[in-house]
Amino acid sequence: MKIYKARDYDHVSQIAANILAAQIILKPDSVLGLATGGTPVGTYKQLIEKYKNGDICFSQVTAINLDEYCGLDSDNDQSYAYFMRDNLFNYININFYYVNIPNGMAKDAKAECERYNEVIAKNPIDIQLLGIGPNGHIGFNEPASELSATSHHVELAPATIEANKRFFENEEQVPRTAYTMGMGQIMHAQKILLVASGAGKADILCQALKGPITTRVPASFLQMHGDVVVVADEAALRKVL
Ligand code: PGA
Repeated sequence: MKIYKARDYDHVSQIAANILAAQIILKPDSVLGLATGGTPVGTYKQLIEKYKNGDICFSQVTAINLDEYCGLDSDNDQSYAYFMRDNLFNYININFYYVNIPNGMAKDAKAECERYNEVIAKNPIDIQLLGIGPNGHIGFNEPASELSATSHHVELAPATIEANKRFFENEEQVPRTAYTMGMGQIMHAQKILLVASGAGKADILCQALKGPITTRVPASFLQMHGDVVVVADEAALRKVL
């Protein structure tokens, strides 16, 4: 596992965007596993700049997102489909045919998970961008007595609802369930890029990177992956380095 200590959030974003840009330059038809949440926003801003400067081209890139809330359609400004358009896709030349996000409005959860499993099986992920939840979740793989390898329908943990309520008008509006890529699918990515920023992530980052590998801290499974790059600022890495 490689750990890059960045000065601050902007520096995290700059390093993470450089790593993703290098991936796209070396393999223009890369499959990028993408993430939502507050942390990747700066990374996406930097990628947009690199695209505008002519440094990278997304025309052959495939995007596969980690997760989506259930019950929100893609035009809802709280959906992750909307987030991705608003923070990245609308500003780059990605082919929307190559964009994949679980359908939060799917009527048949089992069929939707099977569809997403097929998408991932057909498009092996070259690099998976991850944030880390305050409870150690990656994607929406929440702490539990057991984890799922493949895409599944999940009940969000109280800690996740609490953390994500800042994006909604009130806590009641936070969806209670979601679709997420499974742990096995994340672990199968060729390379993993985990970004974290701020003192609020110091404890969980330490547990994930140095603590026991346990389903109670899903991100701790990353210790078993052969090619993980962690890019985090000094505040987040305070207990790790
Ligand atoms: P954050 O979320 O980037 O908003 O902290 C991370 C996550 O929940 O995966």
